Amino acid sequence: MSGPNSEYDPVQVTPLEAVEVDRMRDDALAAIDAAADLAALKQVRQAHAGDRSPLALANREIGALPPAARKEAGLRVGQARGAVGQALAARQEVLEAAAEEQMLVEETVDVTLPWDRQARGARHPITTFSERIADVFVAMGWEVAEGPLIEAEWLNFDALNLGPDHPARTMQDTFWTEPAEDHVVLRTHTSPVQARTMLTRTPPIYVVCPGRVFRTDEYDATHSPVFHQVEGLVIDEGITMAHLRGSLDHMLQALFGPGITTRFRPSYFPFTEPSAEMDMVCFVCRGAAPAVDSCRTCRGEGWIELGGCGVVNPRVLTACGVDAERYTGFAFGFGIDRMLMFRHGIEDLRDLFEGDVRFTTAFGQEI
Ligand code: DAH
Repeated sequence: MSGPNSEYDPVQVTPLEAVEVDRMRDDALAAIDAAADLAALKQVRQAHAGDRSPLALANREIGALPPAARKEAGLRVGQARGAVGQALAARQEVLEAAAEEQMLVEETVDVTLPWDRQARGARHPITTFSERIADVFVAMGWEVAEGPLIEAEWLNFDALNLGPDHPARTMQDTFWTEPAEDHVVLRTHTSPVQARTMLTRTPPIYVVCPGRVFRTDEYDATHSPVFHQVEGLVIDEGITMAHLRGSLDHMLQALFGPGITTRFRPSYFPFTEPSAEMDMVCFVCRGAAPAVDSCRTCRGEGWIELGGCGVVNPRVLTACGVDAERYTGFAFGFGIDRMLMFRHGIEDLRDLFEGDVRFTTAFGQEI
């Protein structure tokens, strides 16, 4: 750096000549243009606009010029520095925008990607629905009873007053185990749990028994060789059909909502006398379907069949060691799969048994 001088020194003036200042400016503008990113631009700024840049040094030389030359040189250097400053600012803006653009591309989050590759399963709706049904009765003080899936023929049939000639015993309905002399079957209904309960407990008896049963049915949209029933049995003094009706009405209102009404149709089961089929009013159309002829749930019937029930036949009480003079009782047996199907609009029974986890998870995590 030179100190103030009063004499005209051509050497010192050289960096302030128009051509020199233009060159410094052009060098700077070219470097700015060439800066490919913000880091490069930072260096360019240092080199061409920093304290030790040619233009800054030239600026300092102005003071050393003879007064006559200062104004022009000052103007020239000032304009050059201004141009460089503007170019720097403009380039800075461009590169910042580019950097942000790049960041958005590189750090893009694809929100459609699966966020949890560990697929979560769910309990099977038959399990949760069976528990829900049982809970309704447990809340009334009943107990849950269980029995084996592989059952003695006597408990599955004889104890329940299904005589040796009963058609249900034939090869078309029952899975028999071998050897046949053992008289062992896959239980065809949950009713043998009634017999087991009466044989092992003393009245009063209030039990509910959800479980799996087997029949030699075809496997199609409405049949399966494996399905589920829920059995109920009450044995106490003074039990009548009215208690049966009240208990089942309560269950249905708990499962399908308030205001559900029921009806009995006369029927026959060897283990109950009198026997009935129980229907509930369709919980979707509330019985309006026959008038408007359009309800998918009850198929235009207005009523939905639930299953059989009745007053326990005294012959069954006696066969199972219960004093039929003192006690009376009621029983019922409903299909769980069927109830689940119309409750949730499931069209094909096989969906319940094929094990597709997407079906199960659609029911959510019911505990
Ligand atoms: N066990 C019968 C069946 O599988 C259903 C049934 C009807 C059960 C009447 C009962 C009852 O307890 O009382 O078809």
